[in-house]
Amino acid sequence: MNSVEASGLTVRLNGFEALSNVTLSLNHPSFTVIIGPNGAGKTTLLKTILGLLKPQSGNIRVMGLDPTKEPQKVRLMVGYVPQRDRISFFVPMKVKDVVMMSRLAWKRPPRWVTEHDEAAVKEALRIVGAEDLADRMFNELSGGQQQRVLIARAIVSEPKLLLLDEPFNGIDVMTQHEIMNLIASLRKNGVSVIMVTHDVSDVIDLIDNLVLLYRSIVAIGKPEDVLREDVLKNVYGNRIRVYSNEPCLMFVPRDSHG
Ligand SMILES: Nc1ncnc2c1ncn2[C@@H]1O[C@H](COP(=O)(O)OP(=O)(O)O)[C@@H](O)[C@H]1O
Ligand SMILES: [Mg+2]
Repeated sequence: MNSVEASGLTVRLNGFEALSNVTLSLNHPSFTVIIGPNGAGKTTLLKTILGLLKPQSGNIRVMGLDPTKEPQKVRLMVGYVPQRDRISFFVPMKVKDVVMMSRLAWKRPPRWVTEHDEAAVKEALRIVGAEDLADRMFNELSGGQQQRVLIARAIVSEPKLLLLDEPFNGIDVMTQHEIMNLIASLRKNGVSVIMVTHDVSDVIDLIDNLVLLYRSIVAIGKPEDVLREDVLKNVYGNRIRVYSNEPCLMFVPRDSHG
């Protein structure tokens, strides 16, 4: 089975074609990284995989399910770490409740918290190295701490597929390395991970599929097939430099609007 199978996917947002004829096949388990300039449709693709956005045409299957028809079932199998700078839903709430919320979301009311739920929340916070933050207020944490908590929230229900939207934005190098290690261990345990990032240099050895997206799939393959100036310049123009001796590095100047 593939984690994601899409063909001819077109997604319009208020008339704007954010994704155009996207055809994609990702095996399971695998670690996929999606790169592309701001506005390329990366977040739109993740939201379409989750069933939060519906394509105008084309087909999509996520772990064998159609997110346009069974979004609830897809959400049960897919963990999602949204782009942190886009999150605005946080009323003052304790860290452990932020994580618990995601676990309870799938229960029928009344949503009793069981010992098993409490243990799962504790374990998820331990995995991301945030157990000592459990009783802190989420909105008072640093960016890196918030990112850990959001990842705990995404893995607390043991997803088969984890989607991470620019998880490295505004976090320290230590946290970045720990997130990387976490991705590696999830992948080893049979979880598929799809990550959007502008910075592939630290994860390059882990990547199974690298996708260059610009409204449609410009290139897909191993990092060395995609991180080539002749490929990247189609999308980034002269803003890109590739240093092709190992380790392979790529620098993409960040646009100001994230
Ligand atoms: N609700 C919306 N209505 C119209 N256009 C949108 C909407 N949301 C996003 N867009 C546009 O769709 C394009 C893709 O957005 P997005 O998927 O967020 O790109 P990325 O994550 O690659 O930066 C952008 O040009 C963005 O301005
Ligand atoms: Mg985005």
